[in-house]
Amino acid sequence: MAAPQFSPLDVNPETGELFLRLPHPHATIILTPPRTRDAEPIVDIMNDPAVYPFLGRPKMPYLLEAAVALVAENKHASDAVIKALEDAAPDAFAEDCPVSSIREVLPDGTEVYIGSIRVKRCNWWEVQGAQRVRLMEQNAGRATGDPETVWQVSDYVASSHHRRGIMTAVLRTFLDQWAIPRMGVRHLHVSVFTGNEGSVRVFEKTGFVLVDTLENCIEIRGEMRGLHVMDWHHSGYSAALVSCLFLRS
Ligand SMILES: CC(C)(COP(=O)(O)OP(=O)(O)OC[C@H]1O[C@@H](n2cnc3c(N)ncnc32)[C@H](O)[C@@H]1OP(=O)(O)O)[C@@H](O)C(=O)NCCC(=O)NCCS
Repeated sequence: MAAPQFSPLDVNPETGELFLRLPHPHATIILTPPRTRDAEPIVDIMNDPAVYPFLGRPKMPYLLEAAVALVAENKHASDAVIKALEDAAPDAFAEDCPVSSIREVLPDGTEVYIGSIRVKRCNWWEVQGAQRVRLMEQNAGRATGDPETVWQVSDYVASSHHRRGIMTAVLRTFLDQWAIPRMGVRHLHVSVFTGNEGSVRVFEKTGFVLVDTLENCIEIRGEMRGLHVMDWHHSGYSAALVSCLFLRS
């Protein structure tokens, strides 16, 4: 078991690396910090036509240098939150999650990189101009653990592992085990390209509600795309209730 600051993450006794194991029936899936050698499988996943059309960020073709930069960015975020938690009280909120790489553990113990999940402060892809800047600035100004912070999810899994219930289990576990108790996440706001039925279904199954669909609202790789906008609120949490309790205290 990891130090209390990292609860409920586990520690690999051989490598000292933090990890989070999914519950049955997905116990062969673990989340770990990013590793430098994830870059090569990421190149394959990002160039897969079953994956990249549904992601906004990758430039095509997706080159190794882009994957190396992505892993470095995610590793930096993981290292930063580990460092912050090492120096923090056991019940302190975290700004991020140390584990974001999804791996399948094979019977011989080999760990195969199969995807990624990050929960970060929301950047309102569907909103344009000054309004977007204002929303992002307001959100960035909130303290770590502030229940009014709005978060977003970015995730993908290799097409070899699609439709096995993996991302639904990863997202539920990530929210229940880390984002809700350790980051204080109470409100998630995501946008999903229209046509991405799998992602909409994963979010619906996790309790997200479709709030809007905007056609031709964002240009991605030279093409206008539509977005489904979906929201999730932690059950029992309402901003009005929190303000009320805050005013009374
Ligand atoms: C979207 C994605 C993360 C789903 O992951 P997954 O592990 O395959 O999803 P699950 O197996 O947990 O499926 C959850 C539900 O979605 C359905 N589903 C999954 N893929 C689907 C698809 N392509 N079309 C229709 N339904 C789909 C499943 O049948 C399941 O529904 P059910 O339980 O009612 O039968 C995965 O397809 C992916 O990585 N896609 C490319 C990148 C991406 O879209 N990322 C999200 C960006 S917002």
